[in-house]
Amino acid sequence: MPPKKIVAGNWKMNTDLQDAISLANTVIEGAEQMKAQAILCPPSLFLDPLVKLTAGSAIALGAQNCSFAEKGAFTGEIAASMIASVGAKYVILGHSERRTIFGEDNLTIQQKVSQALKNNLIVIFCCGETLEEREAGRVEEVITRQITEGLPTVIENPASNIIIAYEPVWAIGTGITASPAQAEEVHRFIRNLLKQQFGQIGADISLLYGGSCNAANAAELFAQENIDGGLIGGASLKAADFLTICKAFA
Ligand code: PGA
Repeated sequence: MPPKKIVAGNWKMNTDLQDAISLANTVIEGAEQMKAQAILCPPSLFLDPLVKLTAGSAIALGAQNCSFAEKGAFTGEIAASMIASVGAKYVILGHSERRTIFGEDNLTIQQKVSQALKNNLIVIFCCGETLEEREAGRVEEVITRQITEGLPTVIENPASNIIIAYEPVWAIGTGITASPAQAEEVHRFIRNLLKQQFGQIGADISLLYGGSCNAANAAELFAQENIDGGLIGGASLKAADFLTICKAFA
């Protein structure tokens, strides 16, 4: 079972091999007294060298996406089994950039989650509303659909295999962070939804906040009752900031 406190760095389509190695090395060097499981999610091409580099350290590796299919004629795709075979343990699925830029719908995401779970990857499942949806008062409706349609109905050991990241789309990469109270309100809603879906085990599923979370605001966000950690984009590309965030727990 992964620890409940988690900080995952989503590097997105940034770094080249040399940058990736040097960023990971700096994180490894600063990894003493981590208060959370740190996960680095570099571009898939760099997973294999970074798994080797981080071996024996406290740092785990994850991919940013995987295919909905098991294998075969899917030019350019990367299967969950391939990610697992290089020793990565996690995969981010349902990120809003995948949903909006690449047109992934809840059904596709559910197929990806199934592939990941079949291959023993732990899924970091993203959900979150757009500004338009928030202003229309549709936050709970949108999150409910994303979670109920995007996750398979039956999941073995959900608390061990699924991490949920709430990432309001309006906060991603914008420098506008949800206030701790705004984030906690949605996290509490998600917590109750997970309890409805999975029973009491829903209380043990780790809930991460993502969206302009940085070294300055992480502690206040992580102090909220239902926020167990963060999914970090921009700030994860600076090792010192990422390390500060990994230690921003009371
Ligand atoms: P951000 O990205 O921290 O740069 O807002 C978060 C994410 O997209 O996971």
